[in-house]
Amino acid sequence: MPELKDATETTLADLLSLKGRAAVVTGGAQGLGKAIARRFAEAGANVVIGDRNLEVAQQTAADLSVRYGANVIAVLLDVADEASVQSCASTSAERFGSIDIWVNNAGVFPALPINYMTLQDWENVFAVNARGTFLGAQAAALAMTDRGGVIINVASLAGIRGISPALSAYVSSKHAVVGLTRQLALELAPQRIRVLAIAPSFVVTEGNLALMQGNEGVTEAAAQDIPSMLQSKLGRVGVPDDIGRVALFAASDMALFMTGTTLVVDAGESA
Ligand SMILES: NC(=O)c1ccc[n+]([C@@H]2O[C@H](COP(=O)([O-])OP(=O)(O)OC[C@H]3O[C@@H](n4cnc5c(N)ncnc54)[C@H](O)[C@@H]3O)[C@@H](O)[C@H]2O)c1
Repeated sequence: MPELKDATETTLADLLSLKGRAAVVTGGAQGLGKAIARRFAEAGANVVIGDRNLEVAQQTAADLSVRYGANVIAVLLDVADEASVQSCASTSAERFGSIDIWVNNAGVFPALPINYMTLQDWENVFAVNARGTFLGAQAAALAMTDRGGVIINVASLAGIRGISPALSAYVSSKHAVVGLTRQLALELAPQRIRVLAIAPSFVVTEGNLALMQGNEGVTEAAAQDIPSMLQSKLGRVGVPDDIGRVALFAASDMALFMTGTTLVVDAGESA
């Protein structure tokens, strides 16, 4: 990562460029992660898409490589597994020489009413959303020591307040992500590693559609809340690129003086 102390004289094009930088996007096969990987590839980054669904990740990597003439590769990754995260980090370093940007995006959001939730249900949500973010941030921080970098954690509006019914494990895990972001920003600032979170409100993705169709055991109460989730105060539903553009801003030198902050992308829902 170049050390830019004062970017006043840097052109806008150069500030937004990720040319030659290596970026890892977890859960990048589809949804928000895919949109983030797409803007990163367009901005010139070499991108590693790490996902537990290797087949879809490979399709996405191939699509982005062709569309942008970029180096985009897919690796099998389970963010809840320490060895798998370390292997993903090693692949980025081997293929692209470094890790400049790491996006902890992979997440799960099953509808689990508290009265029916098992301890294992709770642990499964925390394993991916909280432990996965910790493991990714740790692997990234180790790789970025002495050279700087950016860690972006995809939290949620659920990381700063409660939301719809049956999401207590999800809401708690995303609060952990926001807390980790604040603390790691303080710890890693001396090494020129910026740590930011993004907190989206409802965005239509494959995962959300599956939830709405009941594939992940959505409850009646949560289902009744879905129509209101689809509305935004700006008059349209959020799409993945609404998050992809903000992730590009956060990763780029446009945001050089930002760390520890959670960027709320919610069309005014929390205003
Ligand atoms: N879509 C929304 O409305 C919304 C809102 C706020 C926050 N978020 C957060 O954004 C992130 C992405 O959500 P999405 O809607 O794109 O979901 P999605 O289900 O469409 O995509 C998630 C991707 O992560 C991968 N994944 C899941 N568990 C994994 C694991 N253990 N290891 C590696 N990969 C894994 C999946 O295979 C999938 O490709 C999540 O962290 C979610 O909590 C989403």
